[in-house]
Amino acid sequence: MEKSELKVKALDKISGEIEVPGDKSMSHRAAILAGISNGECRVSNFLPSEDCVNTLKAMEALGVKVDIVKSGPHGPVEMVIHGRRMKLEAPDGPIDCGNSGTGMRLLAGLLAAQPFRSELTGDASLSGRPMGRIIKPLAEMGAKIEARGEKAGCAPLVIHGGKLHPITYQMPVASAQVKSAILLAGMFAEGKTTVVQPADCRDHTERMLEQFRVRTRRTGNAITIYGGQMPESTDIEVPGDFSSAAFWIVAAAGMTGSRLLIKNVGLNPTRTALMDVLLRMGAKIQDQVRTGSEAGEAAGNIEVHGGILRGTEVKKEEVPNLIDEVPILAVAGALAQGRTVIRNAGELRVKETDRIATVVEGLRAMGVEVEEHEDGLEVVGGRKLKGARINSHGDHRIAMAFAIAGLFAVGETIIENTTCIATSYPGFEEQMKAMRNGLKK
Ligand code: S3P
Repeated sequence: MEKSELKVKALDKISGEIEVPGDKSMSHRAAILAGISNGECRVSNFLPSEDCVNTLKAMEALGVKVDIVKSGPHGPVEMVIHGRRMKLEAPDGPIDCGNSGTGMRLLAGLLAAQPFRSELTGDASLSGRPMGRIIKPLAEMGAKIEARGEKAGCAPLVIHGGKLHPITYQMPVASAQVKSAILLAGMFAEGKTTVVQPADCRDHTERMLEQFRVRTRRTGNAITIYGGQMPESTDIEVPGDFSSAAFWIVAAAGMTGSRLLIKNVGLNPTRTALMDVLLRMGAKIQDQVRTGSEAGEAAGNIEVHGGILRGTEVKKEEVPNLIDEVPILAVAGALAQGRTVIRNAGELRVKETDRIATVVEGLRAMGVEVEEHEDGLEVVGGRKLKGARINSHGDHRIAMAFAIAGLFAVGETIIENTTCIATSYPGFEEQMKAMRNGLKK
């Protein structure tokens, strides 16, 4: 991947309104479910990021016809996907999932049930991430999956799919990706597949299955799917991605005098714990859920006013519902008076980078006092940030979180290795420029 950098200087105020691109989690799921549905599905506000485009291409490689209806400056945003009624075609070669854990894990669940051999590959980061967590349950269901990576249990994955049987599976970690892989596979198994999550985690798969008229049942923390159901074609309108909005929420909340309106953002409660934490930190945020929500999901506007933040402790049960927001929350902690404690977040060590290590490294470079723990970090905030050179290590959320930190720093901040931003937020840099040059009011 070509290297590039982003230079950021302090900003004194943000004022106006923006929209963020479509939700990443929902775009992956829309491509997959539409592709196995029984007809034509129009997907709009699809996220044209590398991760989601890779999943769309994967579905095409599996024989799904996709007609692009509209493309934006960064790629396809609206398309008609022609479902193949649960039966995919063997791909000609390996399927490249790029940087995306969601793409690889969900596709593995789908391919486990197809009667052919397939291979899923990824970039260096994805090839170092644990796949045993999906191989184990899918193997219990009868699939044969070989992890052929240099690191044990890692991609490339060779999947010998076939007939599956239902299981009941207790997930050791609260992972929506693992849950989704099992539910997708369970759709093809005869009988009742149940996955039990140790804690609530994002439920887009269950909600989108419902949109496609596939029944799941939730009892406490157990989610059951009945095999033999075929998704009924439907149109999906993807709302803006809360995880992308999170960067601007923190930027505006920490800058006195700011007022920012973020329009049309997904407000699924399993995604928005960052707002609860920021409210405890004293942030002035209001969200307004629109009625007649998108794709079975709550969506609406978020209004943020700038002010003084103070440190807080993140609760254990909040962690899965803000897991992707920890880098930007740690930046909020650096801006806040006092100590912000984020623990029970060991999962961060197996994301696109070891995000505990990369966040700690970046904060220290900016002069912030931070304590690293195996399962999280503690940030002592309130001191002026110093501009610094920050390496994203190829992790999109690290690049963006520290670009936001740069808006608060004395001197210039240079984020190195920023091409990765395109994996989840094409257009981030342009929006950042617009914050400085004047947004729509
Ligand atoms: C995702 C689930 C989360 C999250 C990832 C997207 C999803 O991962 O970190 O960015 O779309 O299901 P885990 O489920 O592995 O925690």
